[in-house]
Formats: sequence, structure tokens, C-alpha cells
Amino acid sequence: MNNIIVSTPVIDRIGKLFGEHGLAKKTVVMFDRTTKELFGEQILSSMESQGFTLQELVVPARETSKSFRTAFSLYGEMIEANVDRGWNLLAVGGGVVGDLGGFIAASYYRGIPVIQLPTTLLAMTDSSIGGKVAINHPLGKNLIGFFHMPKLVLIDPAYLKTLPEREIYGGMAEVVKYGFIADREFFTYLDEHFDRIVAIEEPYATTAIRKSAMIKADVVEKDFREESGLRATLNFGHTFAHGFEKLADYRYIRHGEAVSLGMACALYLSRTLGTITEDELAEGLGLLGRFRFPKGLVKKRFLEQGTEDIIQSMHSDKKKVDSQLRFVILDGIGRAKLLRDALPNDVVARSIEDARAWAATTFTC
Ligand SMILES: NC(=O)c1ccc[n+]([C@@H]2O[C@H](COP(=O)([O-])OP(=O)(O)OC[C@H]3O[C@@H](n4cnc5c(N)ncnc54)[C@H](O)[C@@H]3O)[C@@H](O)[C@H]2O)c1
Ligand SMILES: [Zn+2]
Repeated sequence: MNNIIVSTPVIDRIGKLFGEHGLAKKTVVMFDRTTKELFGEQILSSMESQGFTLQELVVPARETSKSFRTAFSLYGEMIEANVDRGWNLLAVGGGVVGDLGGFIAASYYRGIPVIQLPTTLLAMTDSSIGGKVAINHPLGKNLIGFFHMPKLVLIDPAYLKTLPEREIYGGMAEVVKYGFIADREFFTYLDEHFDRIVAIEEPYATTAIRKSAMIKADVVEKDFREESGLRATLNFGHTFAHGFEKLADYRYIRHGEAVSLGMACALYLSRTLGTITEDELAEGLGLLGRFRFPKGLVKKRFLEQGTEDIIQSMHSDKKKVDSQLRFVILDGIGRAKLLRDALPNDVVARSIEDARAWAATTFTC
């Protein structure tokens, strides 16, 4: 975990950090159009002044950039620029750039090192850590990819100052998830400082990001290939979330928004199965109730969706084994476990309906 650096301004130290981690100062820097415009000049000029040889790649700022077509054209740009195996790749952006950059690094010349410089809250706390890199296939998201661990993850929370509020809440869902599944004390910290963290106030934002990154790295280290069930606990709330995302065509609800609603369902499920108390349920819902959504989103994407439709959409999750839905429940706040056995449909349906009743009275729009 000594390759995850949380520091402001991290870019001033990049040359030294590369040296310490045995990385050459020959770097392909990948941005999306937004991160290029916001941070391109500052990052590239700082790296140049630290003695780097640079090649720049820029992709559209959208999920469809995680495609074979984009990857293929980027390989071409790299070959033409004489990028060889002595180079490395720095991905500057959210999960899209991180996943695509990681995919290219894992495959180019049979693999060159990737360094992540995440600029969204989701990327800082989740996607940049753990080495899963992928592109999408028309038949499903993230289906084509590798495990390619980043050599360095450079996290600078100051980059979040320009991030739209909706993206902050999206990332915050994963942050809160770590409190639920792994650390009771962290959960309490998040509950206490929620508003300061979403406002990116220091030292609260940095503390929350550092803790989240460490929890994710720790889980990944203990169960890299998702074999023991531990890494699967990172999917708390995600089985339900997948149903909402699929019903919204992956377009009208952000992943984190779906996860925060999905965690409410998973809390009710845990209560029904007797693994959390009524008090813990209320405490968990109290934190989830502080999330903010665009006007009408909860109503349209959750309250007005049929329970059966949601369950059916959940079934198209690639993470299910033998078409059986896999659920992560809490074993008290701060501990999670993967349910190995199938659940009767009516138990799943009840969790969704309970969470819906809660959401109807909690979110006014
Ligand atoms: N590899 C993994 O383990 C993993 C885990 C979770 C998610 N993911 C992937 O991550 C992707 C989602 O990532 P995301 O939520 O970061 O989305 P994203 O990369 O699309 O970024 C969201 C938006 O914010 C913009 N942006 C980025 N940084 C900014 C900044 N500092 N200020 C202003 N705007 C900024 C981007 O240009 C983009 O428009 C998905 O493709 C998902 O599959 C991967
Ligand atoms: Zn997630």
C-alpha cells in the first residue's frame, strides 16, 4: 500500500516518486477532454520541468471511450510516437480514463506500467485502486479486461474542487460503503462530517479519501482474484444498484446514485435476515438519507419502478454465479458477508419495497 500517495499538490513530487518506484521518466499522459482542459497545462508543464519526456493522448469525456475502437486508435498514436516498452502510462481522470488507460497499458507491448492520477471522488476511492482495468463490449460493460496493478496511485484531493456536485455524491456512495462493510469507526466519522466531506473541506475530505483508499487496497490485497468472498463484499448494495442502472439504460442514473439506493435495500435485507438491529438500520438509513439527487430522479428511477422489473434487471448482472443473485449483507455496521445461498424472491422483493417506502418519505423530490 506504500504505492498509494495522498498529497497536495502531488504533481510537484511526481518526478521524485517515479524515481523511488523505479519508473522511467518517459510517460504517455492520458486525459479526457475535460481533465485536459482543466489540468492539462499544469500537469504537463510541471512534468516537463521535472525532466519527463511526454506523449499526450486525449479521449472524449464519456463512457463510450472505453471501447475497442478508441483503444485501437490510441495504440496507433503510441506506435507512431515511438512509444516502446521503456515507457509508462499516466491516466489523468475519472474511472473512464483510468480503466481505458489501464487497459491500454496492460496490453501495449505485452504490458507497460500504469500510474493512476484520479480526479473524481469515485476514481480516488475506488476505480484507481485494485488493478481491474477494462473496456466495454456492446453486450456488456467491463467485459474485456485485465488485472493490471498500478505501479503508483497519486491522489490529490485538490483536483475535486472543480468536480460537479452530482459526481461528488456518486463517489461518496462508495466512501460510505467502506464504512458500512469494513470500519465502524469510519462510519461514525462519515456520519459526523458528511457535509464537510461533500464540500471538500479539509482535513475531512483527505481523511475520508485516504481511509477509503486504504480499505479498498487492503481488501484487494487479501483477495486479489475475488476467490474468498472478501473482495465480493465491495459489492455491498451493488446487486440492487445493478437493477436500477439497467432499468435506466445505464444513462439516467449515475452508478453511485444507484449504489446509495441499493445500500438502503441491502440494509433492509440485513435487518430482515436478522444480521443488523433496528437501531443499526435506522443509523444506516440516517446516513444514506443525506445523499442528494437531481430533481425527480428518485421518483422516476426508484419509486415508480415495479419491484418485479427491478428483480429481473438484477438478474442480468455478470457477477452472478449460475444465474443466482449474490447478495452482500451487513453483520452489524462495519462488517459484511457474502451470502452463499440463494434468497427467495419474496425476501428480495420485500427489501426493495421497504427501501422504497423509506425513500418516499426521505427524499422530497
Ligand atoms: N476498475 C474498477 O475497479 C472500477 C470501479 C468502479 C468504477 N469503474 C469504472 O469507472 C467509470 C466511472 O468513473 P467516474 O465516475 O470517475 O466517471 P468519469 O471518468 O466518466 O468522470 C465523470 C465526469 O467527470 C469529469 N471529471 C473528471 N475529473 C474532473 C474534475 N476534477 N473536475 C471536473 N470534472 C471532472 C469527467 O471528464 C467526466 O465527464 C465507469 O466506466 C466504471 O465502469 C471501474
Ligand atoms: Zn461501485
